[in-house]
Amino acid sequence: MMKKKIGDLEEIDKFLHELTDDLSMPSGSLFRIAHQYLKNWGVEITRDNLEWIKEKAYNSYMEEWERSGDEINTAIKRAIIATGLGEGDNILNKNVAAMAVEHMLALHDSGKRTLRVCDIGAGDGATTVAIFNRMERYAETAALGEVTRFYLLEPSDERIMKGVKENINTHSLKMKHKPGVVTLTHEEAMSLFREGVFDIAVTSAVYHHMPFPDYLNDIHRILSDDGVLVMGDWFYNIFEYPARVLPLLESLDREQRNTEQRRIDAFRKYFDIPFDTAAWNDDLTVEQIMGNKIFTIYTVALANELSDMGKKLYFFEAFEPLSDRLKKMEGAGFETDFAELKKKHVAFARSINNIRRVFPDFACAVSAGKKIRNETKKEPQKIK
Ligand SMILES: C[S@@+](CC[C@H](N)C(=O)[O-])C[C@H]1O[C@@H](n2cnc3c(N)ncnc32)[C@H](O)[C@@H]1O
Repeated sequence: MMKKKIGDLEEIDKFLHELTDDLSMPSGSLFRIAHQYLKNWGVEITRDNLEWIKEKAYNSYMEEWERSGDEINTAIKRAIIATGLGEGDNILNKNVAAMAVEHMLALHDSGKRTLRVCDIGAGDGATTVAIFNRMERYAETAALGEVTRFYLLEPSDERIMKGVKENINTHSLKMKHKPGVVTLTHEEAMSLFREGVFDIAVTSAVYHHMPFPDYLNDIHRILSDDGVLVMGDWFYNIFEYPARVLPLLESLDREQRNTEQRRIDAFRKYFDIPFDTAAWNDDLTVEQIMGNKIFTIYTVALANELSDMGKKLYFFEAFEPLSDRLKKMEGAGFETDFAELKKKHVAFARSINNIRRVFPDFACAVSAGKKIRNETKKEPQKIK
């Protein structure tokens, strides 16, 4: 029986809370996962519970975010290195930057004399710095510094101000305009931006915190008609089915030297997971299976770091495969097909592709052009 009453949904979170809160990385609310997966966890999204689910996810992410800071960012970096993912987000940033600069050049070639670039979830400015580094490489791209205005949107005042002071304002790229800073969340900022105000939105490692695609409609609105969204992110699909979470729970238990089966048995029973779970990976590519394993190794490494400092983060995130993200982009009025982009979008005139797989299948940078107005179907995104 699918659960849809709010009381029943609260019951699921209560179960997960009691089951996982003693782990150094508890699950957090189930409603943090990508919404299209909830049906596999026995939850039906309805008109009556939709807003509750969205609010639950938002509150859970914000509550976790409030607890974040330098110490947690260091723990994340160390866990990334321990997992063998090297530079982690920085590799994504380099790819995002390479694509963004190609679009900037092409838009400038097409006659645009002022370019506005918004870095959403800018953190300490690493994505914008990667763009600056890329611009600085050649005289032609460095000259874009004269015509480009950067805006960094980041809710953490402390993080962005430190980043601006240490990484942005000290950068050697010659910029005519000092980058602007908006210290708000995406949700707070979007309605304050005029429609069509930005030529390029760049973002890296931010939107796996948003289970519903509403954010894409917002970005679509603030982009100019020839505007482009360049997004880097992590694309695991471990949370598609409860069965795929079993190895993660087992590893977290082992990490805490808990050899009892109690947690696993209770999780299996609650989500009705059959004993033979091998089939749950049948439709995945080898890279996706590896990706989910790597996510498990990373989570355990992070749990380890966090327990040393007495802090906690949740393991549920709104990860989804790139194919789902591309579908959501299309649903919000973005073109993601490269042949179409090449044909119809001036911003892609210098591009050689619009998808760059950093770690095959699970860390990618993707560029999507805004569909030309009369081609945009403004249909609400399907929630099931
Ligand atoms: C993993 S960091 C990435 C920072 C930067 N883009 C980079 O690649 O280094 C994610 C950033 O997103 C920000 N963030 C989290 N929730 C957000 C939201 N709702 N709106 C905007 N930014 C958000 C966090 O504060 C954090 O700085």
